[in-house]
Amino acid sequence: MPNQSPFDTTQNIFQNRDVLDVDDYQPEQLIERDEQIDEYASALEPILNGWKPNNIFVYGKTGTGKTATTHYMLNWLRHDIQEQSSAVEGSDKKDSNTTSSTNLEVVYLNCEALTSSYQVAVELLNDLRDEAHQVATRGHAPNDIYNWLFEEIDNRNGVVLVVLDEVDHIGDDDTILYQLARARSTNNLKNSNLGVMGISNDFSFREDLSPKVRDSLCEKEILFPAYNATELTEILKRRAEKALYDDAYDLGVLNSSAAYAAKDKGSARQAIDILRNAGDLAQKKDLDTITPDLVKEAKGIVERGRVSEMIGGLSPHGKYALHGLAIASKNNETPIRTKELYDYYRIVCQREQTDTLSVRALRDHLAELDLIGIAKEDQRNAGRGGGKYKQFDLDVKVDAVIEAFKSDTDVHHSMDNSF
Ligand SMILES: Nc1ncnc2c1ncn2[C@@H]1O[C@H](COP(=O)(O)OP(=O)(O)OP(=O)(O)O)[C@@H](O)[C@H]1O
Ligand SMILES: [Mg+2]
Repeated sequence: MPNQSPFDTTQNIFQNRDVLDVDDYQPEQLIERDEQIDEYASALEPILNGWKPNNIFVYGKTGTGKTATTHYMLNWLRHDIQEQSSAVEGSDKKDSNTTSSTNLEVVYLNCEALTSSYQVAVELLNDLRDEAHQVATRGHAPNDIYNWLFEEIDNRNGVVLVVLDEVDHIGDDDTILYQLARARSTNNLKNSNLGVMGISNDFSFREDLSPKVRDSLCEKEILFPAYNATELTEILKRRAEKALYDDAYDLGVLNSSAAYAAKDKGSARQAIDILRNAGDLAQKKDLDTITPDLVKEAKGIVERGRVSEMIGGLSPHGKYALHGLAIASKNNETPIRTKELYDYYRIVCQREQTDTLSVRALRDHLAELDLIGIAKEDQRNAGRGGGKYKQFDLDVKVDAVIEAFKSDTDVHHSMDNSF
């Protein structure tokens, strides 16, 4: 053992770094979300009378406050129900009109790691059951799982609110949503009222739902728009007051973190990530304050992280297409037409020793890259009689793509060696 600890716990920057944890910290106040809160409230209000709430579908891009606002509403709901029941307990039942309170059970599930309807159903069932009666995650007939699930819900004798966050991860098979919607409409439940909320940042998920599910789940739809720079600065101010020492930052640092994020996707997640990373860099360098240069550096770190995540979700040929586009970009040949890009893509496939897909398949992959925001497509007019054609370019920094491919397992050749 060395006689000096390798840990340095002197803190110049962070009062409480956990406040800048994007997923685990729940803000007390939400900025600029009054409209969404009102819509949520009117959809959930029936619960306080023991009635069936509206089913809700919440959608909006990443980092727009969907999860934070949902937790905020659920906390208030639990709070008001609790008040209701204390009022009933404390009242002399004869001369009070508060004679009953609602049984409420909220099951909040993040579906990120649950990639099928079946897995979600099992998870919901196990959440409702006690330790001694858990079911195994495989080996049961789906019908049994659904029947047991409805039994549990019905046993609650009250309102059960099922919240499925990141519900798009269940993919194409929306059976669980169908079953939950059906249980509600066919009076399968005798003693309980069921409410279902779905939350998603994938706009196509709602479109791809079967019509029956869509009609039922989307009774009430709440859109979360992207934030602008002023809103993001407000969000950062509240967070920074608790997370950072007063003299470790100034408004300029918050403004530039917010501006970067606003220009990119309007995501509070990204703005907070940039500020936390800038704080980490300052801490590492033993500085007393976060400087504008560190914010810039932090932006690069966050962007590289985001690009790696997007690349991780692509199919191998999606990656080859992107790799081709990145090389074209490095060679200053972007925006580039599909036909020319195909040559780059073909060479990437040869180097990776895999067959080349058709031009048409490449187009589909490029459309997907555009959809997730890593590339952008624009329609060009080739002049009189020339018709229309598409051009592609990266929508993120090429260096972030190169960096991300260095640790990717599908792409083995770096783009440093030219061809
Ligand atoms: N209006 C707001 N006021 C204060 N903090 C906010 C607000 N909106 C978002 N945040 C904070 O920004 C971060 C991202 O928000 P949240 O997780 O709710 O986004 P999301 O819409 O659920 O994104 P995703 O689709 O990626 O799950 C969280 O740390 C959250 O606390
Ligand atoms: Mg979320």
